[in-house]
Amino acid sequence: MTEGTVRHFLTLKDYTKEEILEIIELGLAIKRECKAGELKPYMPGKTLAMIFEKSSTRTRVSFETGIFQLGGHGLFLSNRDIHLGRGEPVKDTARVISSMCDMVMIRTFAHSMLEEFSSYSKVPVINGLTDSYHPVQLLADYMTMIEHGHDNDPVVAYVGDGNNMTHSWLMLAAKLGFELRIATPKGYEVDGSILEEAMALAVDSGATIIVGNDPKEAVRGATVVTTDTWASMGQEDEKEERIRKFEGYIVDSAMMGLAAENAIFLHCLPAYRGQEVSEEVLEGPQSVVFDEAENRLHAQKGLMVWLDKQR
Ligand code: CP
Ligand code: NVA
Repeated sequence: MTEGTVRHFLTLKDYTKEEILEIIELGLAIKRECKAGELKPYMPGKTLAMIFEKSSTRTRVSFETGIFQLGGHGLFLSNRDIHLGRGEPVKDTARVISSMCDMVMIRTFAHSMLEEFSSYSKVPVINGLTDSYHPVQLLADYMTMIEHGHDNDPVVAYVGDGNNMTHSWLMLAAKLGFELRIATPKGYEVDGSILEEAMALAVDSGATIIVGNDPKEAVRGATVVTTDTWASMGQEDEKEERIRKFEGYIVDSAMMGLAAENAIFLHCLPAYRGQEVSEEVLEGPQSVVFDEAENRLHAQKGLMVWLDKQR
């Protein structure tokens, strides 16, 4: 094992409120520069290895574009192309890649793979989604809430599957101290141990976390409404069964109508219209999902520059 001092970004659990906000503020500052046509080389000559064991549109494009805009270079490494996919041990892959690159982003299945990789990596490792967490998405989500004026005492309602996105919302709420209401169908609740950790953190931050099985109750009066696909990557075989079990969990106009009048709708995308969200809501005036998607680029530039500065 190597380099116990390297700072990784595996879950928001490892970050303080101040650090999370600092990363997002840095992303916002870099976004302002970018919009003014100024691309500053914060990471000249640095390489970001991007290991993908699952599909991606936003994560790949935002990280690859982001590191390029920072003056560095991104390497797209699908597990079909590198020996990891043929059984080369994670710990060997980690030592090799981190001896040549300056930062690594990984999208994979088991969170334990990411933990193992990071424990052998000499350079910062970023979670680009695991079965358990998707923390970079939450940086973009909160950035979007700030930009739309929804970061002052928000009440966030998450309706749908208890998954990597829900777990990340739990950690964000627990760290920042806001109210999060989660409604999942029975049998699709969040992971019990992650919930317990979030509840413990919430005691310090003053967050209110409510979990239940009634989507309407969760959404009533919420200032931010969010959902995610009912069948995540790796659960394709369960799709039909999930569509049946998740009946009543669609975020449609009637559901949005229960939220606060100026509530915004967030979705990490990709979205399945007619399942977790209606076309009308996704394309409607309360939806900020494409601002949210774009903010992946800006928030992650903030994250990369922040992590680079810690070294
Ligand atoms: N939201 C998100 O991570 O999208 P991709 O799967 O397209 O990367
Ligand atoms: N929960 C989804 C998020 C996709 C960005 C998945 O893991 O497939």
